[in-house]
Amino acid sequence: MTPTPTAPPVLSDGRDLVNKALVKWHFVMAVCFMLTSMIGGFLISLQFLDLYPFEGIPWLAYGRVRLLHTNEIAYGFLVNAFLGAIYYAIPRMTGRAVLSDKLGWFILWVWQFTVVATSVGQLLGYTQALEWGETPTGFKPGTFELEYIPVDFLIEIGAVLVAIQFLTSIFRSINQRLYVSLWYFSAAFIWLILTYVMGNNLPEWVLPGSSGAATVGLFIHDLVGLFVTPLGWGLMYFFVPIILRKPVWSHALSTIGFWALAFFYPLNGVHHFLLSSIPMSVQYGAVISTIAVEIVVTTVVVNFFMTMRGSGNALRTNLPIRWFYTGMIFYFTTCLQCAFQTTLTVQEIIHFTDWVPGHAHLVMLGVFAMWLMGIITWMWPRLTGREWYSRALNSWHYWLTSLGVIIMFIDLTAGGLVHGYMFKAMSPWMDIVESLKPFWGVRTFAGGMIVTGQLLWAWNLYKTAHGTTPYDASVDIVKTEGN
Ligand code: HEM
Repeated sequence: MTPTPTAPPVLSDGRDLVNKALVKWHFVMAVCFMLTSMIGGFLISLQFLDLYPFEGIPWLAYGRVRLLHTNEIAYGFLVNAFLGAIYYAIPRMTGRAVLSDKLGWFILWVWQFTVVATSVGQLLGYTQALEWGETPTGFKPGTFELEYIPVDFLIEIGAVLVAIQFLTSIFRSINQRLYVSLWYFSAAFIWLILTYVMGNNLPEWVLPGSSGAATVGLFIHDLVGLFVTPLGWGLMYFFVPIILRKPVWSHALSTIGFWALAFFYPLNGVHHFLLSSIPMSVQYGAVISTIAVEIVVTTVVVNFFMTMRGSGNALRTNLPIRWFYTGMIFYFTTCLQCAFQTTLTVQEIIHFTDWVPGHAHLVMLGVFAMWLMGIITWMWPRLTGREWYSRALNSWHYWLTSLGVIIMFIDLTAGGLVHGYMFKAMSPWMDIVESLKPFWGVRTFAGGMIVTGQLLWAWNLYKTAHGTTPYDASVDIVKTEGN
């Protein structure tokens, strides 16, 4: 089954197939958290230049605001935007509404509460001392003595509710052939529960030492590889054919991509802790499976670029498609980079340097955030029923973000190499710091471009929602061979 833009909008019980208000509110919250997170990222980048305006204020110390940046972008922006897009995509593909609108509103507001409780907790110092699992447990470390809101527990319940909400529609349509996006979504919901529970609980209470570290590695990678990645690709398999008005090039390749992801990705986690005290056999296994993931990635990217054959004009005329395909090029780049950086030879140089945040921004911002920006850009006039306040501002958003990401990536990668080689040559630490300052200056400049792009976009979204000109969807129809 290939998704169709003309699925019936109203159900026999009178409910709308898609609850547009839920979609809209998830997007509004996503954009709000994206702004606060990015402003946080921009501010802490100033500390590298000795320009941080909140120096000496404990709750605004670098370590705490850094967590606000990373956690709000992950849970506030990415999760909200994913949920909004899925509230649209799943009913459209299954022809069935989600389980309950009331449950949808409950999840929406409880989720915003957990994101805010996470940030407040982290600024106050109730962070869980686990990389990427910093959301507060609420308990004193290693005990069951409650000292703050048990955010981890709320997120775990939230993940179960999200799975129930969406899997119900998917199971109710199980007698149809399931389109690949639904495979990706179903797996992502289950993997999220397993990954989150494992990563936030086992290292803290059950597995001490290097076993705990190996589990954290698995958690970090699975959160990206088994939650963000399948949702991202699932949405691409849904939105690209709808906008280009043609099926994906190969359904067989899309299924191979799905199963290969499921097989290889979970083995990758330990590549975050290479050259550590984790047994070398496990580290070698992680290196080999990381390189193998590159094959999976190639099948998926080839499938999408072959789908684009004959429709290349859309890259110029259709902004969402441009966002999607720019993200795919960054995806291929970041995965190729991964295949090299996972080798022990490269790790020896780049580990603990700015190369790593360079890589992290290319994949999280350059790929998944860009896809979601493309999706929100496509849906916003359809959700609000209003024509864009300014299409030129949308273009500025795209160019400032894309160029900002490219500059930030090249800059941090180069800075990481300078750092790594100077470290290997045993240069004095302050010489390394002085050599990196220009790179940190460029990072702040690129970050400024990106933040400006987002502020323009947020303004455009706001003005569009309050505009008066009705939206005419025919303006955005992509002209391809055969239509
Ligand atoms: C959607 C947009 C963004 C996403 C998804 C994102 C994601 C991330 C992630 C995942 C990290 C952790 C990297 C690691 O631990 O290796 C990080 C760190 C960081 N980000 Fe962002 N970021 C975004 C935008 C920005 C912007 C606009 C700036 C502005 C300069 C920025 C500045 C920083 C800084 C300074 C760090 C800490 C680096 C360090 O501690 O060495 N980020 N970000």
